[in-house]
This record gives sequence, structure tokens and C-alpha cells, in this order.
Amino acid sequence: MAKKEQLTFLCGKCGFESRKWLGQCPDCKKWDSMTEQVKTNARTARRAPGKISTLQKASTKELQRLVTSISELDRVLGGGIVPGSLVLIGGDPGIGKSTLILQLLSALAGNNNKVLYVTGEESEQQIKMRAERLSIEDEQIFLATENCVESIIAMATELKPALLAVDSIQTMYSEEVGSAPGSVTQVRESTSRLLTHAKTSNLPVILIGHVTKDGSIAGPRVLEHMVDTVLYFEGDRGHIFRILRTVKNRFGSTNEIGVFEMKENGLSEVDNPSALFLAERPQNVPGSVVLPSVEGTRPILVEVQALVTSSSLGTGRRTAIGADPQRVALLTAVLEKKIGVTLFDQDIFLNIAGGIRIDEPALDLGVIVALLSSLHERIVDPGVVVCGEVGLAGEIRAVGQMEMRLGEAQRLGFHTFLMPESSAMQLESLPSTNMKIIGIKTVQDVVTHLFVAR
Ligand code: TYD
Ligand code: MG
Repeated sequence: MAKKEQLTFLCGKCGFESRKWLGQCPDCKKWDSMTEQVKTNARTARRAPGKISTLQKASTKELQRLVTSISELDRVLGGGIVPGSLVLIGGDPGIGKSTLILQLLSALAGNNNKVLYVTGEESEQQIKMRAERLSIEDEQIFLATENCVESIIAMATELKPALLAVDSIQTMYSEEVGSAPGSVTQVRESTSRLLTHAKTSNLPVILIGHVTKDGSIAGPRVLEHMVDTVLYFEGDRGHIFRILRTVKNRFGSTNEIGVFEMKENGLSEVDNPSALFLAERPQNVPGSVVLPSVEGTRPILVEVQALVTSSSLGTGRRTAIGADPQRVALLTAVLEKKIGVTLFDQDIFLNIAGGIRIDEPALDLGVIVALLSSLHERIVDPGVVVCGEVGLAGEIRAVGQMEMRLGEAQRLGFHTFLMPESSAMQLESLPSTNMKIIGIKTVQDVVTHLFVAR
């Protein structure tokens, strides 16, 4: 086949490709990030047409999932690993990705499957030490230290494992690409080779990828569209909780989370995350309230904390951890306008306890209540949970899955639920609940219902 060499320029940050050099990447707007790449393009030959089926006849038989029996992991994967699928597990360095993968491999090997673990960053001894710490000694876990994808594919072809894990994709290179390992081109090319192999041999592949805070190194973000499933392993290194979150899943729902605890001897599953997240909640202090949040198909109670203090500077700072700072700024503005409190000269700190991140709008009411509680130094009854979206006019809007939230709050012994009025009306028809439900319409109602008596 005739080969044609072609010069292209590639952005080192986002992978944008251009035929000519540009000072600024038109896609991610980074300056001076385009570098020259030589791309060898095989001229497309005329091919015989591929096989065509009909939708009706297409089979789903191959979707026999590989169940890991780590239920938190199976949950985020949508019920196990699909054969021939490419799963990317991303996360900050040191968060526990290699630990998770080793435990996953051990779970699969325990079911009498051969599994192959290829590492490009650690030595055999390091892996062995980790395995000893985790008390993993399965015979069926095969180990290789290798950086070349072509060689990895050859190994997998020979061994025929039930699963291949590659740790990490940033350390891999393909012989057919000229640039250095870790560059966008190499990461993308290596993934594409593993993808082709996964699809043709029906071998599921798990890739580990480091995410860097500034995203400057070729991160897994450029790979998200190539792989079938993207999971992010999150958590604060100072906390023991680790959350595995589905960001993309071609074979299941997104927004699922799996909760783990990082212990001395590895990650252990958390079956009752609400109890864990509320374990250290201070009782009877202002600025704290509990929110029944729903992550995917599961309710989790979390504590929303706020600290409002007068600023030593003229204008207050706003800091939010575990919540969207923009959203907090918006809610602050709503409070100023609708309740008439003065916040511009106050420093506002908002935190979701335990290092979990909440993205759903139901958090709004929790933020409002925590802020007011701290500002007025009024304690919210520790048996109260709140949830609801807050609009710009100060109206409290309905959020979904209220029954699930109610059930979880009741299970953990809460007695009162402050919620949007429309949701309260729907829940009234519910046969058995011994929780007191208070429906509210506006942010002013929060003040009347929660902070009446001093
Ligand atoms: P690791 O899996 O190496 O992280 P990654 O692959 O994401 O870089 O785990 C790193 C941290 O986890 C390390 O700081 C030590 C801690 N750890 C435990 O607390 N308990 C354990 O059993 C193991 C294996 C690691
Ligand atoms: Mg690692």
C-alpha cells in the first residue's frame, strides 16, 4: 500500500489537529501549544463491503458481562464489565487507582479467570508489595512491566486473559508513532490500538489515566470520546472516602457512584454511605444542615456546612468546596435580594463534609439554610433534612426522586423534611411515613419554618 507522509500540528493540551502551525489553539485557546507531528497515512484502498445486518436480527448475546463481585464497582459499570469494552479509570495521582485495579483483578481471578496486569510505571516488586498489603496472592493474576502497546497486544493474544488492565495509559507508547510517551499523540494512538484489539478479540480492557489539576499533560480527557466507559476516582487524600463516579457509559447509566473507604489493607466497600458521611456531624451548631441527595439510583445523606463571617476586607470572599462556587454566589445574591440580608461584606465558606461533591440542584435549599443558619447564629434542629432547587425569584422548585430521599432520611432517624411545596403535595398521598413534611414555596418560608424560635 502506498504511504504518504503528511505534516500536521497538534495541540499539546487538547489534541486539536491543524494542517498549519498556529500561535494559539483555536479549540482550547492555549498559546504556543502546537507542535509538529509526522503522520503516516495509508492511502485508503478499495475494500469489499462489510457485513450488514438488520436491527431486528442484531444480537445482544455478546453482552454477557463479567461480574466483578465488588458490588460498588459493578454498580458504576452498569452491572459488570462488557466483553470487548474499553473502560477508562481516571483520577489524581495517589488517589488509589492501582489499588482499586489490583482488587478488581483479584476479584475476577478468584472466579477462576486469567487476568493480565500490565504496568508501565511501577516495578514488579512495587506491585508485589502492594499485593501483600492487600493480601492478594491469586495464581491467575499475570503481571508484566511493559510500555509498548504492540508488545502488550502480543502478550494478550498469547495469554488470552479474561481482562487486561493497563496502568497507566500515559506511560504507554506505540512503536509506529514518533512522539514521546505521555504526549497527546502517543496516548491517543496507544488507546486506539488497544481499542481495536479489544473490539476484534472481545477482550475487555481497563485503562488507568492520571488527571492533572491544570490538565496540561495529555490527560485522559482527550480519550473520553474513544472509550466506552469513563469512571473517575475522586476523593480528598486527607479523607478516607473515595468515590468512583460514572462520567460516561455506553452500557449503563451515568451519574452512578460507588463509595469506598481507603483503609490500611486496601479499599473496602461502603454499603451505608449516609451513616458514614454523617458520622462526625457536629450537633447543635449553627451553619450545618443535612441534605438527602440522590446520586444515580442511590440516596445519600450529606452534611452541608456554611461559615459566614464579616470580612476584614471591604468585599467578602466566597469559597465553596464540594459545590459549584457559581451556584453559591447565585444563591447568595438571591438571599440578599429576597430576604434583605447583607452579605457583600461577609466572607462565605461552604463545604460539603466528607470530601464528596454534589452537583444536583437539590443542594440549593441546603446551601440557603446553612448560610442563614450561620449568618443568624441559629441552630437548625439536627432531626431536620432539607432539599429543593432555588430559582432566581426566590421560589423553591421541585426536584426528582423525593420518595427515595424521604425513605433514606427516615431510615437514618430524621423526623422533619423541608421540601418544595409541590413535592410535599405529591408525597402526602404516600401511605406510610412518620416523618413530618413541610412544603415551602419561597426562601422567605425557610425563615418562618426553621428559624422561628430562638
Ligand atoms: P495507589 O493505588 O498507588 O494510587 P494511584 O495508583 O491512584 O496513584 O494508592 C496510593 C495511596 O493509597 C498511597 O498513598 C497509600 C494508600 N494506600 C492505603 O492507604 N492502603 C492500602 O492498602 C494501599 C495499597 C494504599
Ligand atoms: Mg498507580
